[in-house]
Amino acid sequence: MSEFLSGWKRTHYCAEPTAQNVGEEMLLMGWAATWRNLGSLIFIGLRDRTGIMQVVFNENKIDKNVFELAEAIRTEYVIAVKGKLVNRVPEMVNPNMATGAFELIATDLKILAKAQTPPIYIDDDLDCQEQIRLKYRYLDLRRPCMQKIMRLRHEITQCARNYFNENGFMEIETPMLCRSTPEGARDYLVPSRVHPGEFYALPQSPQLFKQLLMMSGMDRYFQIARCFRDEDLRADRQPEFTQIDLEMSFVDEDDVMRMNEGFIQRLLKEIVSVDVQLPLKRIPYSEAMERFGSDKPDTRFELELKNVSDIVADCGFGVFTGAIANGGSVRCINAKGAASKFTRKQIDELTEFVKIYKAKGLAWMSMKPEGMQCSFAKFLTPEQIQLIHSRTNVKEGDIVFFVADSNKTVFAALGALRIELAKRLDLIDPNKYELLWVTDFPLLEWSEEENRFMAMHHPFTSPKDDDLQYLDTDPGRVLAKAYDMVLNGNEIGGGSIRIHSIELQEHMLKVLGFTKEQAWERFGFLMEAFKYGTPPHGGLAYGLDRLVMILAGTSNIRDVIAFPKVQTASCLMSDAPNVVDSKQLEELHIKLDLE
Ligand code: AMO
Ligand code: AMP
Repeated sequence: MSEFLSGWKRTHYCAEPTAQNVGEEMLLMGWAATWRNLGSLIFIGLRDRTGIMQVVFNENKIDKNVFELAEAIRTEYVIAVKGKLVNRVPEMVNPNMATGAFELIATDLKILAKAQTPPIYIDDDLDCQEQIRLKYRYLDLRRPCMQKIMRLRHEITQCARNYFNENGFMEIETPMLCRSTPEGARDYLVPSRVHPGEFYALPQSPQLFKQLLMMSGMDRYFQIARCFRDEDLRADRQPEFTQIDLEMSFVDEDDVMRMNEGFIQRLLKEIVSVDVQLPLKRIPYSEAMERFGSDKPDTRFELELKNVSDIVADCGFGVFTGAIANGGSVRCINAKGAASKFTRKQIDELTEFVKIYKAKGLAWMSMKPEGMQCSFAKFLTPEQIQLIHSRTNVKEGDIVFFVADSNKTVFAALGALRIELAKRLDLIDPNKYELLWVTDFPLLEWSEEENRFMAMHHPFTSPKDDDLQYLDTDPGRVLAKAYDMVLNGNEIGGGSIRIHSIELQEHMLKVLGFTKEQAWERFGFLMEAFKYGTPPHGGLAYGLDRLVMILAGTSNIRDVIAFPKVQTASCLMSDAPNVVDSKQLEELHIKLDLE
């Protein structure tokens, strides 16, 4: 028998009791979230993961020793209380609290652990630097809002497990210590003690293993998989993150998309009570870029891009004509109703904003009641201006913003500006869930740094059958059997139909610049497996953390991970990464070379 509990057993969680339990004796355990000592009455807000119950110690009704013990309770003490549930007197009912109609009249008490005054205020209204929250993450996680997010995350993974299990998917674990097959992000490496000078890599995703499982005849696989990518962190990225990863055999793109539409429909119904209409909209990549300047468009608002290159191609404005002459374009967004809302200073801010995306400037046309103001009107004929007006459907009160540059920069700048404008004009309905597929991605993307084509998704994605003929002659035009699922402008998942023939896989790796020897050296185990009967297969992986973020309504990925890393990939609580003993390094045959 535990010395502390000495036979005491919890009967209920703090927020569990309902009106039916009034009059019952119960035993609750938890943390003293609040305490108030009114002399002969002591009120404790007893908190556990379900919520808070008010506990009352009445000096006149309990043993003197128990009351004295209660007087010693301070914030975050861990206590066990026996008592009787009663209705609060009507004027003390707290409608903002699940248990606000009741209180526990204490009869006995144990202090299970004392606590120092916590360095952060354990409350949803906490206002402190995130660094301090992360240093004391275990305290931060006591806050009800954080507990709610952790529960939400659990419910999402549970929903995934149920759905994929019910649809015949088997949950299979794949290794964490893998062979390094870099292509995409940088690997996290783990030195081998037994094989001096050799390293494992932590998986960037279970991609190759799940394909091998299809070759093993597992037919349908899923896993809640931890992935590791040593890349520069952004607001929606972590060095270790979690995927809901799946793969299916004997399927085409449509089969994988339908299966996943079923999942997302069920998930949104269960988690946020939203009805998703199926099938989801599908937007080809090229259309997504043309209309939204993004391959993950947020379609909760309009503000679509318009191409005016044909209208301004021979105008007198060098910025526009120069961009077009260099193979770029001039595109714009009509910010409806912005003319009266944006000051000149705010327009200048937006100019600075697009520069983050490498745009050289932002031209604009503002339709003021007193007439048009335009940063480049003097270079255009009245006809050209008229054509722009009708192309953009501009009306009094609107401002049209233009960027002229390479298509890549124009899309990046206007795609980001579109979202910024929607925020500033308050066009985003936070209660809306807009889901769609982006399809028909290019297979390859030219990398200026590497001076070669890189796989846009990964090297195992199958080209579209009709485009196979261009793989050598015009690789840039080949489309892929790839699809991304987008929710409110976030890429929540991505996948593809895979290459399943050794010849095509070798061909693809050749296009990516690998010699046959290099391809076999790196991916030999996959290529070898192709030889022995590979079913057509494909799959998808969701970014679990991003899904939880959106469904929890937070824009900070760290809020949805129990023990996250910060921008520099360190853990502020445990202080990882850290130096290790020289003995450990010796065993691993590692010598440091630090300047
Ligand atoms: P991909 O690389 O697109 O595909 O990853 C799938 C999903 O994982 C999420 N994600 C991330 N989330 C948080 N932090 C990161 N650093 C991070 N990187 C990616 C995204 C993304 O949509 N093996 C393939 C999937 C497949 O083809 O089946 C893969 O990993 O939400
Ligand atoms: P400049 O010729 O650099 O003085 O720019 C004249 C105006 O055109 C300014 O309002 C700039 O913000 C805008 N501008 C400059 N470069 C671009 C560009 N690439 N696209 C759109 N507008 C631009």
